Amino acid sequence: MDRRELNQELVDFIRKSASMFHTIATIKGLLNDAGFEEWREEEDWAPQPKGKYYTTRNGSSLIAFTVGSDLDALAFRMTAAHSDSPTFKVKSVPELKGPGEYLRLNVEAYGGMIDSTWLDRPLGLAGRVLVKTDGGVESRLFNSEKDILLIPNVPVHMNRGVNDGYAFNRQVDLLPLFSAGEMENGALDAMLAEALGVAASDILAKDLFLVNHEAPSIWGVKDEFVSTPKLDDLQCVFVSLKAFLASENDRGVNVFVCFDNEEVGSNTKQGAMSTFLKDALRRLTLGLGKSEQEFHQAVSRSFLVSCDNAHAVHPNHPELCDDENRTYLNKGIVIKEAANQKYTSDAFSQAVFLSVCEKAGVPVQHFANRSNMQGGSTLGNLSNTQISVHAVDIGLPQLAMHSSYETAGCQDTVDAVKALTTFFNAALEIHGAESFRLDA
Ligand code: CO
Repeated sequence: MDRRELNQELVDFIRKSASMFHTIATIKGLLNDAGFEEWREEEDWAPQPKGKYYTTRNGSSLIAFTVGSDLDALAFRMTAAHSDSPTFKVKSVPELKGPGEYLRLNVEAYGGMIDSTWLDRPLGLAGRVLVKTDGGVESRLFNSEKDILLIPNVPVHMNRGVNDGYAFNRQVDLLPLFSAGEMENGALDAMLAEALGVAASDILAKDLFLVNHEAPSIWGVKDEFVSTPKLDDLQCVFVSLKAFLASENDRGVNVFVCFDNEEVGSNTKQGAMSTFLKDALRRLTLGLGKSEQEFHQAVSRSFLVSCDNAHAVHPNHPELCDDENRTYLNKGIVIKEAANQKYTSDAFSQAVFLSVCEKAGVPVQHFANRSNMQGGSTLGNLSNTQISVHAVDIGLPQLAMHSSYETAGCQDTVDAVKALTTFFNAALEIHGAESFRLDA
């Protein structure tokens, strides 16, 4: 695997995935190219041994399956990552006229971003728009592609305190400029209408988000780094999808999951706390001619790798990390743990994933928060509230998480694809929490 080539593929993937809806469209394109069949939730599902399928919910979450032919002791080998990233969402009445002839957009925060990183950058707009058509109301994807917005900083001469720790007021400081005077109220809908080939009066509703258009970069004298918007969590989406598509396993079922709404708590109809995964696994199992009993047996033998990026030690702030359970770029995949179980890793699931990495020849690092610091949570423990399986939280170390432009290590992209491909190809036999066996 050529490191630079793989990371170029990663940034191309992220570039196409301008919103959570576009992330799912990008994944669908790759699955369609690989011969997967789409199942809609409102249709009958008729899985077959050796079949390849996927289903989506809300156009922003997706689950894909590859079914083996040896389905006696059915088990699911699963990865989960998330399609969304912190950004700003446009409100329904989107425009603010003035001061003067300025036209601004009225936006609110989606998730917990570093506010200052959104200023003085070319921005686009992407998401979905509900439009009236002759056949009824339809959801259409929109991506401005070109730079159409910018949130300017106040000059230092007018804000002398800006370098002393300035708190941005999101209703005041973070509204993007849309026009200097050549556009009026209604310009956003007019622009959308033109792009979508409908009349402005046919636009009913929209979920539109700001997109940082800063170009991605693979950089460093030795090409060690990759920087782009949305590495959290599209780097994990990309590596888990690459591994899923590269693997072939006759035993049981491989499952690739991409959930929406991790950045706003996951408790939506398509988030990790929804019934989406449970519903899909149950329908797949029953569709294979198995009983309800056999479904629960399969769940008990299954394993989830929850993939969400992790914090690397900040080069200027090493004191923010635990003295030993700390991670660095390009030094291995991160296993995250927390005694409060906000990270779902436990000794059993860590042992499984360590065995996978050992087999793959990939280095591993351990992350735990400083004991006086509250950490974040992620997909694993939330997904487990619906479908409870052995699960480990992993991630790739990165800098500046929730900046609008994040940085990770190029070698980690390679190592993650290797480790997760080994996971999907493995024969993993789980017996309760007493023992497991991992064979080639
Ligand atoms: Co994340």
